[in-house]
Amino acid sequence: MMLRTTPLTSETVDTPRDEDIQALLQFSGGPAFAQPRSFYTSHPYQRPLRPQDVTPALLDVPMTSDKLDTPEHLLAQRLLLNIYEQDLVFLPKPPNRLDMKAFKGFYDPATMALGKQVRPLLEEHTYGWLKDDVHINGSWCEESFIAHTDKVLEDIGHSPSRLHEVLTGSRDPQRAARFFLIQCAGDFLSEASAMARNVLGNAGAHTSELFKILIDEYGYGIDKKKHSSLFEALLDQAGLNSQVHHYWQFYTASSLSLTNYFHYVSANHGEFFRYIGAMYYTEASLALTTGHQSRALRDIFGDTVSTEYFDEHQHIDVHHGRMALERLIIPMIRQYGKQVIPDLIRGFEEFRLLQDQADEELYAHIKWHDELDACRARAAMLHGSKPADARFTEPQGEVSVLHSHANNELFWVESGELEFVATPQLSLKLCAGEGVIIPKGMLHGTQITSASCTYTVTAI
Ligand SMILES: [Fe+2]
Ligand SMILES: [Fe+2]
Ligand SMILES: [Fe+2]
Repeated sequence: MMLRTTPLTSETVDTPRDEDIQALLQFSGGPAFAQPRSFYTSHPYQRPLRPQDVTPALLDVPMTSDKLDTPEHLLAQRLLLNIYEQDLVFLPKPPNRLDMKAFKGFYDPATMALGKQVRPLLEEHTYGWLKDDVHINGSWCEESFIAHTDKVLEDIGHSPSRLHEVLTGSRDPQRAARFFLIQCAGDFLSEASAMARNVLGNAGAHTSELFKILIDEYGYGIDKKKHSSLFEALLDQAGLNSQVHHYWQFYTASSLSLTNYFHYVSANHGEFFRYIGAMYYTEASLALTTGHQSRALRDIFGDTVSTEYFDEHQHIDVHHGRMALERLIIPMIRQYGKQVIPDLIRGFEEFRLLQDQADEELYAHIKWHDELDACRARAAMLHGSKPADARFTEPQGEVSVLHSHANNELFWVESGELEFVATPQLSLKLCAGEGVIIPKGMLHGTQITSASCTYTVTAI
């Protein structure tokens, strides 16, 4: 459906739906989410959204698992992370200075209230499909929960690492590894923030047990030991920028989805047991996969990059996984009965599925980056085979915020020139008479580098 173009009257705004649509449009029209001048951000309060893409369908048409590579999913995930992260404190780190106006603007209470208004609708839109795709039928008890989750984790422990294979097998392993680190950065630079939402209040001994995991994540108050600090050091050594969300535009939808899922089940405390189940999956599986991640970085960067971040997790997450099961899950089942198990198992299975999807999307992007030259050659072959769907003329410096398309597209420059970016380490200069094929779901952006540039797009 299309957004109403007639003036709003009391009749049209009085239904909750219209109010929600207006709230969504107003929220996404905020200065923090506006059109940028670069692909990169210089402070944590700048999170370009492409507000022109925000339509009522975002609140209207639920996501399904076969639509996760659509631009709508990416937009919904960007919106949700902004809404959730207005609850967290972010300050820029040197050499970047604090822009007081942008800081106050990002945390503007009226804008935050609009975000909170639409959050449940966006959550339902973005994660409602999990109910259909994750089946947890059957009667669960403590023993069957343990047997099932042990088996899943055992299988992960025994399988070879696809990540290692994909990164080291790339045509440019360092570029692939950096793209992987960028996908991690959205979450790891404020690691365990969602967990912190769960340690307020009084859940008896469970609060204290969870708090023990949280303070490990935060380095017991030692800044250098904080997991996000370890990750900053790793980014710096890998030649990447470690400011929070410097690479905001480069996150895939499913990477954002991992961070957002934890906020979703943590900001809604009725989903607390789902949170605990998901947390158990991530802590216990990280103990098994971080060893491969560490090895991949060592194989790719040699000793120029410290793998301490992943090595620390390989060690500490063995404990965190055990603590989640033995100090939280089992005592909770014994105290509150079987009624909590469906949510525990649901969280465990849902996060497992989301993690697998994020891995697949990462691998698909690395494959596309490796094939970009071939996509350029294919564009030259296909150009002219059918009329263009749309033509755009933009002035010098204009940035098209990274986005993706629901179809394979032929992108073609007719006059002028531009920079076409796929990842910070891979961009093409495209001049008049040159183009590239953009497979569906692949992130890309452009910036005009001549006085003016005209380009066309054609679905193929
Ligand atoms: Fe951690
Ligand atoms: Fe951990
Ligand atoms: Fe595009």
